[in-house]
Amino acid sequence: MTRVVIVTGGAQGIGRAFARRFAADGYRVVVADTNAAKARDVVAEIADAGGVASAVVADVSSEADCTQMVAHAIATFGQLDVLINNAAFFSGIVRKPFWEIDAGEWDRVMAVNVRGTWLAMKAAVPALRASANGSIINMSSNTFLSGRAGFLHYVTSKGAIVGITRAAARELGAAGVRVNCILPGSTTTEVTRASDDPERARELAKQRAIAREQTPADLVGTAAFLASDDARYITGQSFTVDGGTILH
Ligand code: NAI
Repeated sequence: MTRVVIVTGGAQGIGRAFARRFAADGYRVVVADTNAAKARDVVAEIADAGGVASAVVADVSSEADCTQMVAHAIATFGQLDVLINNAAFFSGIVRKPFWEIDAGEWDRVMAVNVRGTWLAMKAAVPALRASANGSIINMSSNTFLSGRAGFLHYVTSKGAIVGITRAAARELGAAGVRVNCILPGSTTTEVTRASDDPERARELAKQRAIAREQTPADLVGTAAFLASDDARYITGQSFTVDGGTILH
């Protein structure tokens, strides 16, 4: 059977690139997002390219939505093999000193980025256990390694993703489900971000061993590998994919 992947936050940016790459690789793809119109656009793009995909509206911070998201995958495609926890409250964040962050914004970042990752994993576990090669790929960030100013809640949430990945890997290894995470560098997508501008992207590029801007195309291969049988003995690991910005 063709494998099935859920990409949360698959309606734009890096998630959209994951959805398109996995479809091109022959996966059946569930594009899960709060933005219904954009999720449907990605499904249409995949169909135009000859792939198979389905959209589902899901807010990952809601347990009921995560349950329904997985139920949609099973009802539509009969199984689930890979969960990519990519959804985040990210591109809308305006950077500010941590003493100026509003407590409501802190809670939202944690609800989507941390609780949402856990809830999606929780909902997916029964289906992933049934897969021959269940795999969870969580999205962290290299800002956890560098500590980016003005982003304290976001950096904290992405650090938590490393912890979630390690702890969940310990609990799911016996079931044959692997859990890994990717730490991208700042990645230029089709989305304009409140926290970034083209000038910063050019400056960051100069700090990389591979001195150019990072795009979603630089990330999709790592995700494809981690989902594949070639990565069958890799779990609990964090992969920094940032063109050699941070070497550790
Ligand atoms: P983005 O902000 O452009 O896209 C996020 C997607 O998630 C959107 O489609 C949005 O509608 C969706 N989303 C937001 N809240 C949601 C919720 N509660 N439930 C379901 N979907 C929700 O982000 P981008 O740039 O594509 O990044 C994707 C992932 O990669 C994020 O986890 C981000 O933290 C991580 N990352 C991104 C980097 C970058 O420079 N673009 C660098 C390092 C990590």
